[in-house]
Amino acid sequence: MSAPKYTLVHGFKCGPGLVNLEDSLSYEAQADDLFISTYPKCGTTWAQLIVTRILNNGNLPEEFMQIGVDGVSPFLEMCGKQAVIDKKKRHGMHAFAIKLHLPFELSPKHPTAKYIVVMRNAKDTCVSSYHHQKMYQIYGIGDMDFHSFFKFWIAGETEAGDYFDFNLSWWNHRKDPNVLILMYEEMKTDASANIVRIAEFLGQGYADMLTANENQILKQIVQETSFEATKKQLADSGFDGKGGEADFARKGIIGDWRNHFTDEESRIVDQKFHRKWDGTGLEKMWDKYCIFGKGV
Ligand code: A3P
Repeated sequence: MSAPKYTLVHGFKCGPGLVNLEDSLSYEAQADDLFISTYPKCGTTWAQLIVTRILNNGNLPEEFMQIGVDGVSPFLEMCGKQAVIDKKKRHGMHAFAIKLHLPFELSPKHPTAKYIVVMRNAKDTCVSSYHHQKMYQIYGIGDMDFHSFFKFWIAGETEAGDYFDFNLSWWNHRKDPNVLILMYEEMKTDASANIVRIAEFLGQGYADMLTANENQILKQIVQETSFEATKKQLADSGFDGKGGEADFARKGIIGDWRNHFTDEESRIVDQKFHRKWDGTGLEKMWDKYCIFGKGV
């Protein structure tokens, strides 16, 4: 059994497939760029699909059907800056967002560029990361069991590094007018309200478009980005389902951690959660979901 693989670039633990991180760090953000930046497995794909539909009148144009590197949103650290620039030339910047798995400090900056961040509770994120890394040989974890993976994940010894530091880097900018922070759990609880929030953040015209004709386009986007619809779309496009089990749409629930964690592992997360976040406000964000104990 070997540790999860990553590449260290400027001190950041970059996913092993992200061959263009170095190049992407010199991408010059433009005034009207839109980024979706998440810690891996927090709902990136879901946000990408919602945003692309909002930007395209509720539809997902054919050329954005593929979720991979250069599909619905180009993944900057994977496809590199030239691919993003080329895609902007082809489609204009108002048709898609750029995907990042970067903390605030390393993300391309422009004072009027917009940044959408999705956060998800630490325990489900860890479980989702485990299943993701088991699917792809490049991570090198082989058939490692969850409990072994947990030790690496909680120590920040895996792609994107420490979950708590990464999310705090964005949370510290939650009041910036060009940063929108979404919670995966809130999106699950009320997709419609969160889709409207995204549209308002993108511009009132988008929100008006969604709610015209008794919410016609809003209802369409809710339905077409539901977990079931996403799972089908990813399978149909050949993106998910490799090796039998779909991945980017695996279970899509709140609370799968209860099927994986021991009491001790849960307590270890609780402790770190409070040590890293107490006093920041982030420690209150999952109160109503009964996920985190006191951790003492
Ligand atoms: P699980 O592994 O817990 O099922 P990312 O896109 O950042 O890699 O995140 C993947 C996680 O988001 C997976 O979680 C996946 O199932 C979930 N997901 C993807 N599409 C979703 C949707 N439409 N609704 C809810 N969850 C979704």
